[in-house]
Amino acid sequence: MSETENIIQEYDQFVLATYTRNPVVIMKGKGSWIWDTEGKKYLDFFPGWGVSSLGHCHPKVVNAVREQAARLIHMPNNFYNELQGRLAGVIVKKAFPGKVFFGNSGAEANEGALKLARRFGEPKGRFEIITMESSFHGRTLATITATGQEKYHTGFGPLIPGFRYLPFNDLKRLEEAITERTAAVMLELVQGEGGVHPATPDYARGIRKICNREGLLMIVDEIQTGMGRTGHYFAFQEYGIEPDIMTLAKALGGGLPIGALVVKDRFAGFLPPGTHASTFGGSPLVCAAALAVFQEMEEENILENVREMGEYLRGKLEELKEEFPLIKTVRGIGLMLGMELDRECKLVVESCLEKGLIVNCTAGSVLRVLPACNIRREEIDHAVGIIREALE
Ligand SMILES: Cc1ncc(COP(=O)(O)O)c(C=O)c1O
Repeated sequence: MSETENIIQEYDQFVLATYTRNPVVIMKGKGSWIWDTEGKKYLDFFPGWGVSSLGHCHPKVVNAVREQAARLIHMPNNFYNELQGRLAGVIVKKAFPGKVFFGNSGAEANEGALKLARRFGEPKGRFEIITMESSFHGRTLATITATGQEKYHTGFGPLIPGFRYLPFNDLKRLEEAITERTAAVMLELVQGEGGVHPATPDYARGIRKICNREGLLMIVDEIQTGMGRTGHYFAFQEYGIEPDIMTLAKALGGGLPIGALVVKDRFAGFLPPGTHASTFGGSPLVCAAALAVFQEMEEENILENVREMGEYLRGKLEELKEEFPLIKTVRGIGLMLGMELDRECKLVVESCLEKGLIVNCTAGSVLRVLPACNIRREEIDHAVGIIREALE
């Protein structure tokens, strides 16, 4: 039995089968490239589902982790450590005046946001949280409830009460849906899992205005869109608005598990001591990695690269659209792009994998790419060449 077969067999025997996996065993990664056990090389245009946005094993992240691991890996949150406060300060400086709570994942960051929204609304009897159809907010019970897609709910009922789903990009329906029970509106500014759908500027700004007028919290899930993906640190900056709460994860830790709940100062008091916690949250190790990510983004002007390469890649995908009538639309912002096909895109993704390119298919027919934010022009050309062959 080959090494690959051995490893796959071990998974089959011992790992809970909650994922559909490709029959490929990845052994190493460097930049935008990964290698499997057979020595085959792949260009990764979907690195870690948006996690490894500086590429795999970025040397600055590796060094920061190596040094910190030898000094102090974990400390419980009833003590102080210099790195957590420093990281919170960097996030707040890039986002808006506020405070940060650290957890370990996107779902956990969103759980914190939902808990805060409930405590915010509680004195006024407001508990309902409005989220959007086709959204995605995670896989815990509260975050699948927040997720406006039935397929993630199936078999898990009864879900958490007090959620309501509205069509995305429909401000009128939102106006009509608000009642004296509504506490918050939560959304992704570019829906990722839902098919790479950006909010229109009027919609995003309209929600901000409605939340101000009605005294509701505006919660923006930046777990996929954050950390430079759209050419800004956070997608809300593209829209010229500020949410009251933002959640982060994925790219924040350069590959290490970290999530962050970022709360405007005036709402920070709704989670006083004892109301929320996470044993692993914001350990010195993950904070060191996240600080290295910010440092690299600044020193290498990564946001500029996202804007430039995002435009370049989008242009290339538009060219493919001209060539292949099966491509219906190309959409997205920065380096968060999707091509909607007139059919399922599973076969295209499989063909790309066989040819050495990793891309994703979401919402059935949307070919999604989230290349590393430091991707280079030649790598884009290489990827587009493979996508073209796969489409053919
Ligand atoms: C927008 C958004 N929110 C939340 C999550 C959940 O994050 P995690 O898998 O880290 O819990 C994801 C993951 O894909 C996401 O894209």
